[in-house]
Amino acid sequence: MKPKIPFDFENLTVIDSVAVQYLLMKLRDENTKGKDYKIYADRLNTILSEEALARLPQVEQGMVTTPCGSAFGPVLKGKSSICLVSVVRSGDILLEAVRNLEPDAAVGKILIQRDESTKEKTPSLYYKKLPKDITSRFVILVDPMLATSGSVRMALDVLVKAGVDPKNVMFLNLICAPEGLRALHNDYPEVKVVTGTVDERLNENGFIVPGLGDYGDRYYQTE
Ligand code: PRP
Repeated sequence: MKPKIPFDFENLTVIDSVAVQYLLMKLRDENTKGKDYKIYADRLNTILSEEALARLPQVEQGMVTTPCGSAFGPVLKGKSSICLVSVVRSGDILLEAVRNLEPDAAVGKILIQRDESTKEKTPSLYYKKLPKDITSRFVILVDPMLATSGSVRMALDVLVKAGVDPKNVMFLNLICAPEGLRALHNDYPEVKVVTGTVDERLNENGFIVPGLGDYGDRYYQTE
């Protein structure tokens, strides 16, 4: 589904699914707390992970033989060689959801944190660990929220510095702000973005509106 955003982002996919919207509403609701938040988030992450894996470049239209005939649809051609990279901490939640479905994927971690005291929410890089063969793999970069996009652009800078071609990266997330998407598109138009929703805007505090608050704090109960 193409969202209503005021610019063209060819590589953006917003998952068109009632289940995704239903589960996002559970996460948006300020009354969803504690274990319920984790349960709904994990259910949503599993759906989004399946949607991401079904959009790998190795998935093409093809035939399979069924017990009663033949069927045409998306099939994996060859072997998928994936590296999952999370922006720690919240990205780890989504990373494990994809990894449950693709246990053979290599894993990389990048720790980036926004400085909440600045207006620009300037991100800082604290740590990175990537597999040595990352350039021979397709990278699924995961972080549930894209607000200003400072964090994900910094993570992409780290990947590019490690030799990764942005064309070989999919950024999987739950919720985006249009302002952040525009900045991401300016810097990395080749990156494929798969998301659950594009919300209205960022507020003056750099939070997505209507959004769902601070996902990491709500999931880990560190509010
Ligand atoms: C959140 C989120 C992204 C970032 C998005 O992380 O997981 O990494 O903010 O904001 P941006 O697009 O403006 O950079 P946060 O710094 O809150 O840390 P957390 O993962 O520990 O919750």
